[in-house]
Amino acid sequence: MIRINAADIKPASSLKFVLRIASLSLLFLTRTGALQAQVSVAPTDLQCEYLTNPLGIDAANPRLSWRLSDTRQGARQTAYQLYIGTDSVAVSQGKANQWTTGKVLTDQALITYAGKPLQPFTKYFWRVDLWDKDGRNAKPASLSSFETGLMNARNWQGSWISDSRDVTIKPAPYFRKAFKLAKKIRSARAYVAVAGLYELYINGQKIGSHRLDPMYTRFDRRTLYVTYDVTAQMQTGNNAIGVLLGNGWYNHQSTAVWYFHEAPWRGRPTFCLDLRITYDDGSIETVTSGKDWKTALSPLIFNSIYTAEHYDGRLEQPGWNTANFDDKAWKEVIYRSTPSETIVAQTMHPIRAVERIPAKAIRKFNDTTYVFDLGRNISGVSQISVTGSAGTTLRLKHGERLYDNGHVDLSNIDVHYRPTDKSDPFQTDIFMLAGRGPETFMPRFNYKGFQYVEVTSDKPIDLTQASLTGYFMHSDVPAIGTFQSSNPTMNKLWWATNNAYLSNLFGYPTDCPQREKNGWTGDAHIASETGLYNFDGITIYEKWLADHRDEQQPNGVLPSIIPTDGWGYEWGNGPDWTSTIAIIPWNIYLFYGDKKLLADCYDNIKRYVDHINEQSPSGLTSWGLGDWVPVKSKSPVELTSSAYYFADVSILAKTAKLLGKQTDYSYYSALAARIKAAFNAKYLNKETGLYGSGLQTELSVPLYWGLVPDELNSKVASNLAKRVTADNDHLDVGLLGTKAILGALSENGHADKAYTLASQETFPSWGWWIVNGATTLYENWPIDAKSDISMNHIMFGEIGAWLYKALGGIKPDPTQPGFKNVLLEPMFVSNLDQVDVAHTGPYGTIRSAWKRTATELSYDIVVPPNSTATVSLIVPPGKTIYENGLPLASSSKAIRPVERTGKVQKFQLQAGTYQFKLK
Ligand code: BGC
Repeated sequence: MIRINAADIKPASSLKFVLRIASLSLLFLTRTGALQAQVSVAPTDLQCEYLTNPLGIDAANPRLSWRLSDTRQGARQTAYQLYIGTDSVAVSQGKANQWTTGKVLTDQALITYAGKPLQPFTKYFWRVDLWDKDGRNAKPASLSSFETGLMNARNWQGSWISDSRDVTIKPAPYFRKAFKLAKKIRSARAYVAVAGLYELYINGQKIGSHRLDPMYTRFDRRTLYVTYDVTAQMQTGNNAIGVLLGNGWYNHQSTAVWYFHEAPWRGRPTFCLDLRITYDDGSIETVTSGKDWKTALSPLIFNSIYTAEHYDGRLEQPGWNTANFDDKAWKEVIYRSTPSETIVAQTMHPIRAVERIPAKAIRKFNDTTYVFDLGRNISGVSQISVTGSAGTTLRLKHGERLYDNGHVDLSNIDVHYRPTDKSDPFQTDIFMLAGRGPETFMPRFNYKGFQYVEVTSDKPIDLTQASLTGYFMHSDVPAIGTFQSSNPTMNKLWWATNNAYLSNLFGYPTDCPQREKNGWTGDAHIASETGLYNFDGITIYEKWLADHRDEQQPNGVLPSIIPTDGWGYEWGNGPDWTSTIAIIPWNIYLFYGDKKLLADCYDNIKRYVDHINEQSPSGLTSWGLGDWVPVKSKSPVELTSSAYYFADVSILAKTAKLLGKQTDYSYYSALAARIKAAFNAKYLNKETGLYGSGLQTELSVPLYWGLVPDELNSKVASNLAKRVTADNDHLDVGLLGTKAILGALSENGHADKAYTLASQETFPSWGWWIVNGATTLYENWPIDAKSDISMNHIMFGEIGAWLYKALGGIKPDPTQPGFKNVLLEPMFVSNLDQVDVAHTGPYGTIRSAWKRTATELSYDIVVPPNSTATVSLIVPPGKTIYENGLPLASSSKAIRPVERTGKVQKFQLQAGTYQFKLK
């Protein structure tokens, strides 16, 4: 039976997943129980572009995917048939006017649309019929759909508009338009493209649950538009539409060391809107942004994505977004040029206020000063409810830590901020009351990293613990991984890692949610596997790699932060950071079995690699930052950067092969071999099996990235294990070393040593943070470090992936990616009694769970339908593997073939649920 982990360490966002696992486990019970329930076989989880029933798809050939629901052993899909059309009744009857594939004999469950050209603004219904392992036909319970968006910039009817103010003006502008609709409405869609941020209102109602839309891009190269179904908010007769524009990264008014206030794209926020109404009689009317809109300044008197928001309730104009509002005093709008040539659909999981976190404690200093504690560090906003007289001014200072005297301390996170005066305090919202009874404020166009909020007021106010609530905001990616073990600190570490990952996911991966909010490339590729094991993040990464393509120089160079205003082309952008261009598409390929991102980035990876090759014909490069924030020892930059260069060239060579580019394949394979030879000639001592001076990073990096000659692998690995012992079984690595060290040990015969490092609870270690109360990961190893001291960094987050890769042993098989064949290689490490790991991949939930008792080790596996698994178990001498009470070799037919090499037993499993014992 699947165990659900302790509720106290579970982020709410994974609840859906837990429920799903729980229902799966019920199915498993019925399968093995006495009452053999009827097996229901059906296609499930139909998605288009990795979203469920999405609106506003621009892709001419969208990807369609599904899963087979079938709990039987050996469950698989033998064929599919797709029906796609605009008439739902016809599609449900197996007739479709757009695309019918016929019965295709394949187990493939990810297909690229190849029917008649899709039309814009059109809803397509689709179903997929599947044939199971016995050739029986299974149909979906209900139809799925996707709806196209504008598809082509020429389909926009509205104009880009704004108010006539310049970039220095602080208050955010309102825009409105009232209009009449004569006929009965069948459906309505709002398409909103914005340079900046926005909130959309129709007839007084805020549209949608997204926050901080649209996602940050390099606005002068690519601008995103968002689609909403607004049918429910429209009415026949009088209507009004309202837009509030925020600055976001488009008009960065706060000043800091990255010069976003000088970004080449900077401008007063602007938008273009088409509200497309389909009447009952089939006719269409589009209400658009244009000169007939009116504008006024809003009560949002200042908004900065970087620092905070200021709001003056006295300036509210009740009903501003409703039809009856008198806008005579409002001003004319102006036309603006389009911010970029490319206006494309935002096809991704949006940012939301995903989790509500009530304050855990309040401390009252006096009747004008209070400090709230959320009990955990988050990215997001706080919401305050308060009553006071008009003009009472509250300041809400958000920080990650407190001074000894209990006040909020910003000194660990405001170091790169360069304010020009006192009007824009860091992470401090300013709320002026309207004085009309209870009032609530929550920022719209800003987020922060914080655990504590210090509220000060210029007049006495009465606050209670319930007055303030935190909202954990991030890209709302579905949770698809769970980890639970008999080590409670490790369980908390898994949770803290996920908190840090999510705190740094805002439509692009960031380094930290407070000090920078920068898309630091190095941090992101290091954490990408941790992200992909735990969250369905493909839509975010595909968008972010498009940002990469926008930012790449013609010569192949990428900046160290993406998106960027130009900062980062000269600092920090060697291959150890900007290998994102190769590593992330490759990881997406491994986790989703989808080549599209690799294909989309192929030329970019090539230009990038060619650039390094031109600069460093020797095969070695010192371009990079090296092992960032090390515990103590610093490894040579050339060693780590050259290893990443090798990794990129290897990925490029493999991709060339996948895409059928034979000449490139030969060329880049040879280049990879040359880099490897140069690397080993310079750094490897073949006698001793040491690299460089034998530091942890120097040994881990070549092992992890495959640079060590095969015959020396175990020697180098045992040198690494010895080095760790000599370092008192503690880490002596920085960013690049943490990525490599655990895997370098566990993949090469030293899993116990890796676990010793991973589970340390004394300095320096991950556990040290956790036992000192961390609920996220930190930027530096000492908890009292003096610099690099953000308390919400994901850069040391590889451990989150390692829990899956090593303790659970769940790994994608590069020869059958997307977990079509799962590699199950759990490490039954000695100092741990029990582990339960699950990951939901493209075919369903994979589970790997083991438990040791005094006499035996039990190992439970779930292999999802339409996939297989290759299990490799290390079997200690004298022990045998049993399945269902029988020795493995003579048990079920679903387990074939069984091979033994040394201590390792390897066997192949069909889909299904299995229980093994080692005794
Ligand atoms: C960021 C890091 C980043 C580094 C690169 C820091 O300021 O917070 O996470 O990778 O700079 O140098």
